[in-house]
Amino acid sequence: MRIENPGIGAALPELGVELRSGSALSDLTSLGIGGTTDLLRIKKHEGIPDLLNLLDANGIPHRFLGGGSNLLVGDGELPWVVLQLAKPEPEVVIDGTFAQVDAAADLGRTVTFCAKNDLGGMEGLIGVPGTVGGALRMNAGAYGMQIGSYVREVKLYRAAGRKIEILRGDQISFEYRHTSFAPDDMMLAVKLELPSKPFKEILAGIRICNEKRRSSQPLGQKSAGCIFKNPPGASAGRMIDELGLKGLNVGDARISDRHANFFVNAGAASAKDMLTLVADVRERVHKAFAVELEHEVVVWNA
Ligand code: EPU
Repeated sequence: MRIENPGIGAALPELGVELRSGSALSDLTSLGIGGTTDLLRIKKHEGIPDLLNLLDANGIPHRFLGGGSNLLVGDGELPWVVLQLAKPEPEVVIDGTFAQVDAAADLGRTVTFCAKNDLGGMEGLIGVPGTVGGALRMNAGAYGMQIGSYVREVKLYRAAGRKIEILRGDQISFEYRHTSFAPDDMMLAVKLELPSKPFKEILAGIRICNEKRRSSQPLGQKSAGCIFKNPPGASAGRMIDELGLKGLNVGDARISDRHANFFVNAGAASAKDMLTLVADVRERVHKAFAVELEHEVVVWNA
């Protein structure tokens, strides 16, 4: 979707917003899949309520993009504009055992920055691509930990009240890859409280998690991480593997040979290819195990 009204284009700089016309979402997602639309890069949080009022008043639908690492976007010209926070400087501010982190901060860099300040707890998230805001919204987790356990405060734009608010950690529920945030809430910043640990000890944990991830996941390839959630008490990857589906493909959309719950873009896969493969695997798993797999990846299809 293109913003054609010149009045809107002219109002954006004052709101701290940069317009990048005709951006390819395939360049902004780890899967390397997705069509084109206008991208609005937000440089100051305070301008967000006015920006959204402006878009709504002009009937322009929007979506919020984080780091694009857990996202499957449709092909072609997309029917909404995309909003994304620009990265601030600094991304993280440490205060005792608290880390104040901007939602646009890179997750991996945040984990290592906290580690260097003797703050641990997030070792399992090392190697998970994306932003802190995305990890927060999905309650990202790995190797027995989840980010939600450390959240003390969240600054967010709430579409329902049309304003920026601060929530305490205990006002938010964090479940397996799910939170109580509304779909149109936009994460802006988070205050984490992390356990104090010597850097060396945290580094040892980081190395173990890195090694486990390297040995079981296709890290060098374009993917969105696990495509399905694990059903209670079971592993989606193991079920797909047991059906002998590693390597199965639709065009360049392919099930990884390394981890069967990672679907990779082996070249120029389209969203249509990927969604066809996903639907096929869901059906096969349902037939074999009577289990309905749920998407773990967020799908933005027109
Ligand atoms: N397995 C297979 N074949 C496969 C893949 C896995 O037999 O192709 C078996 C493994 O041998 C193991 C079991 O399935 O016995 C579980 O596998 P793994 O330890 O790789 O964990 P997972 O349940 O597949 C989850 C998260 C990952 C996270 C890892 C590590 C989900 C959907 N996946 O994977 O998160 O990195 O644990 O904690 O919860 C993601 O969210 O995108 C993601 C990759």
